[in-house]
Amino acid sequence: MSKTPRFVCEMAKLQENLKVLENIQKRADVDILLALKGFALKETFSLMRRYLSGTSASSLNEARVAKDFNKEIHTYLPAYAEDEILEIAAISDTLIFNSLSQFDRFYSQVKERASCGLRINLELDFNLPEHCNANAKGSRLGVVASSLHVIPKEVEGLHVHALCSQNADAFFTLISELEDRYSQHFKQLKWINFGGGHALTCKEYDVEYLIKILKDFKQKYPHLRLYLEPSEAVVHEAGYLEAKVLDIVHNEIDIAILDASIEVHLTDIMLTKQPPKVRGSVKDGRYTYQLAGCSCAAGDIFGTYSFEKPLKVSDKIIFENKLAYTIVKTTTFNGINPANLVLKG
Ligand SMILES: Cc1ncc(COP(=O)(O)O)c(C=O)c1O
Repeated sequence: MSKTPRFVCEMAKLQENLKVLENIQKRADVDILLALKGFALKETFSLMRRYLSGTSASSLNEARVAKDFNKEIHTYLPAYAEDEILEIAAISDTLIFNSLSQFDRFYSQVKERASCGLRINLELDFNLPEHCNANAKGSRLGVVASSLHVIPKEVEGLHVHALCSQNADAFFTLISELEDRYSQHFKQLKWINFGGGHALTCKEYDVEYLIKILKDFKQKYPHLRLYLEPSEAVVHEAGYLEAKVLDIVHNEIDIAILDASIEVHLTDIMLTKQPPKVRGSVKDGRYTYQLAGCSCAAGDIFGTYSFEKPLKVSDKIIFENKLAYTIVKTTTFNGINPANLVLKG
C-alpha cells in the first residue's frame, strides 16, 4: 500500500450504497445523480455509472469531469460567467439558473443546447447548521417567492436544494411545500430536481417512505422526470483517511502530531466544526490525546480522543467516513504532501 496520508475508498461498500440507490431509482421511478461537488474520484466512475443516471456539476471544471462519467449531466451554478456559459451548455443536458436575471440574460444563447430550469428557494426552516443551510434567511441560493411573481414560460424545470443529511420526513416537508406553492406551474415543466442532502444510505433512513412519497407525487404528475442529486449518501461510510503518528509531545496535555492536516486533507472540519470519528477511540479511555495536524497553523487540530492503549510513533490513525467533501477540497497549504488515493477491494 502507498504511504500515508491516504484516502482509502472501499469499493465493496461503495457498491453496496449504489445498490441501495439503484433500488430507489427503479422502484420510485426517480433518477439519481452523483453531485460531483462532494465526490469526483474518476477511478470510481466505471463502477458508479453502472448504477446512477448521471452527475450534477456546479462549475465548468466539474462539467468537464462529468463528461468522463458519460451519462446525463445536470449543471447548476450560483452565477454563470459570460465566457464559460456556452461551453457549459454544450456539455450539459440541463442548465439550472439561480436567478431570473441570469435566466433572462442567457436563455436565448443556450436554449438550443440544454433544457433550462430555475433554482427556487422555498425558505424552509429546518434549523440546520449554518454551513449547509441553503434556505437560510438572506441566502443567495435560489429565487425566493417574493422575487418570483411569474415563472417564465420557457422554464422547463425546477431545482430545490434545501436538505442536509436528512431523512424522508424532511423530504416530505420539502416536496409538500413545493407542491403547495408551485403546482400550478407543473404543467409547463419537464423535470424537477430535489437537490441533495438526502441521507439515503444511512441505516436510519426510511427508504420505503421516500419511495412512497415519490410514487404518490409521480402518480399526480406523470409527465415529470424526477431527480435527486446526493453526494454524501453515495459514498457514505465507504472510505476513510489514514494518517500516521509522527511525534508525541506534551504541553499540559498529550498531543499526537500526525502526517495529515485539517488544513490540507480534511478541510471539511473547518466548515462543519465536527470532529471526525477515529477508529478504535473510546469514550473516557485511559489514554487521551489531542490529535493535531502537521501544518504550522495553531488551529490545525482534529480533536481530542481517548484510547485503551497509549499511542506511539508510527501508529496508524483512521478517520472514518471521510470520502465526501474531503478529496475534492484538499489544499496545498504549507507544502504538505497530498494524500495518496487507494481503491480497496
Ligand atoms: C445544489 C446541491 N446539490 C447537491 C448537493 C449534495 O448534497 P449532499 O452531499 O448533502 O447530498 C449540494 C451540497 O451542497 C448542493 O449544494
